[in-house]
Formats: sequence, structure tokens, C-alpha cells
Amino acid sequence: MAAVPEAETVPILELRAVDAAYGPFRAIFGVSFALEPGRVLALLGSNGAGKTTIARVCSGLIVPTSGKVMFAGRDVTGQPAYRYARLGIVHAPEGRSVFASLSVEENLDLTFRRSRGRAGVRGALDQAFTLFPRLGERRRQSAGTLSGGEQRMLSLARVLVEQPRLLIADELSLGLAPIIVDEVYRTLERIRDAGTTLLLVEQHVHHALAIADDAIVLVKGEVAYSGPVSELGDLQARVLGGNAGADS
Ligand SMILES: Nc1ncnc2c1ncn2[C@@H]1O[C@H](COP(=O)(O)OP(=O)(O)OP(=O)(O)O)[C@@H](O)[C@H]1O
Ligand SMILES: [Mg+2]
Repeated sequence: MAAVPEAETVPILELRAVDAAYGPFRAIFGVSFALEPGRVLALLGSNGAGKTTIARVCSGLIVPTSGKVMFAGRDVTGQPAYRYARLGIVHAPEGRSVFASLSVEENLDLTFRRSRGRAGVRGALDQAFTLFPRLGERRRQSAGTLSGGEQRMLSLARVLVEQPRLLIADELSLGLAPIIVDEVYRTLERIRDAGTTLLLVEQHVHHALAIADDAIVLVKGEVAYSGPVSELGDLQARVLGGNAGADS
């Protein structure tokens, strides 16, 4: 899969000189990168560097103030987020997103019915409960009464089972026990092998770099490094080690 010659490959996702802002506050500046299908890109940077902003741009939640977002060779800049979703881009945001009053199983049912149709729900539920047995044990419990980590598992189960074309995962491991994080990353490898392209945002870079082919290091909204993980050297340690703000 990774052996496709580079020149032949249309990037599944490409940002071209993207600026994005929140009102008057400019968060990212001239960000460009291309993500080839089947590859895993890690987006690194310290707090406030602009990682989540880029993740939102890539899933259509924020419209760039200038620059372009290309998906599989098509200009999708400015299209509504549901269009991005329909193209197969799934954004797993920071934190949890569950329907508190519905049970675990009802939450999953709702998602899988939409993505797989009625006939596919059973199989998808089995996959989710294999991935997170804890959720299987609590399938009838209302999601609002789950612990924080369990709610996180529930929102992850919803996206990991869906097998999107591009999964944008923002701080997947946040608030999860190490053993669960290992499990989540094994699942990411599996869906990568099944053809999903991954854009991973992680503060805890150890796991992300173990699975990533390429990395981007952001410093104050600008790309400081873009290239293979193997050539990242100690930049990641320097940037994330607290020296990023030397000139401020
Ligand atoms: N909704 C918003 N309104 C105004 N400013 C925002 C908003 N969201 C983010 N910002 C600002 O944009 C900058 C980039 O934020 P972003 O969330 O992209 O950073 P991040 O790299 O994801 O950080 P973290 O590692 O802490 O999650 C920060 O300075 C932040 O304060
Ligand atoms: Mg963030």
C-alpha cells in the first residue's frame, strides 16, 4: 500500500498557504502540507501552537481566511462541514461527545445506523465492544453516568469503527489509562492497514511518532518542520520541551 510511487499519487488532503483566525486573532499563518493516502501524519507543537485549529480547518469546521483546502484533488475550501463528512473525513475532537441521556448501546446504534445502515449495526456494535470490552459491560448504562475515561472510549468507539477515508484525531489519548491508549493505537494501526489515512494531533508524542510516517511541527501558528519522522531529529524535543517561546 505504501509502495505507490509518489509522483502518481494525488494527496488525499492538502493545505495550500492557509491562514485561519478567530475574529481578529490570527491563529495559523501560511500553513502548507500534503498528506498522501494511506499515510499517517503527526501534527506536533506546544499548547496554543495551532494544532486544533488546523484539525478544524481540515474537517471544514473553520474556513481559512486565505489559502486553499484540497481533498483528493478537489478544492473544498469554504464548503460546509457536512460536505467534508460526506467525503469521508471524520474529525474526532478533543474531549468527549456523547448523548448523556441515551445508553451506551443507543449512542453507538445511532452512529452506526447512519454510517452502515440497519443491517450493519450488529457487526459494528460487536466491533466496538471488542475494541472496548468495558463498554460492552456497560451497554445499558446511560452515557452521562459513565466515568470520564469511559465516555472518551464511547466517543472513540463511534469514530474508530466507522473506517473513514481520513481520520483527524485530536488528542486521542487524553484522559485515558495507558493500557487503553495502547489499545486505541493498535486500532489505529488496523484502520490504517485497512486504508484509512490518519492525521494525528497529540501532546504525548511518543505514541503518535511510533505510528506516523511524517510529522509537522508547529510553532506559534507556523510550520517549523514538515517531513519524514525519521528526519525530525531532536526538533520535537526542543519544541515541546518548553523552548518554543524563546523570542516572546
Ligand atoms: N474559539 C477561539 N476563539 C479565539 N481564540 C481561539 C479559539 N480557539 C483557539 N484560539 C486560539 O488560537 C490559538 C491556537 O489554538 P489551538 O487550539 O489551535 O492550539 P493547540 O495547538 O491545539 O493547543 P493545545 O495543545 O493546547 O490543544 C491559541 O492561541 C488559542 O488561544
Ligand atoms: Mg488542541
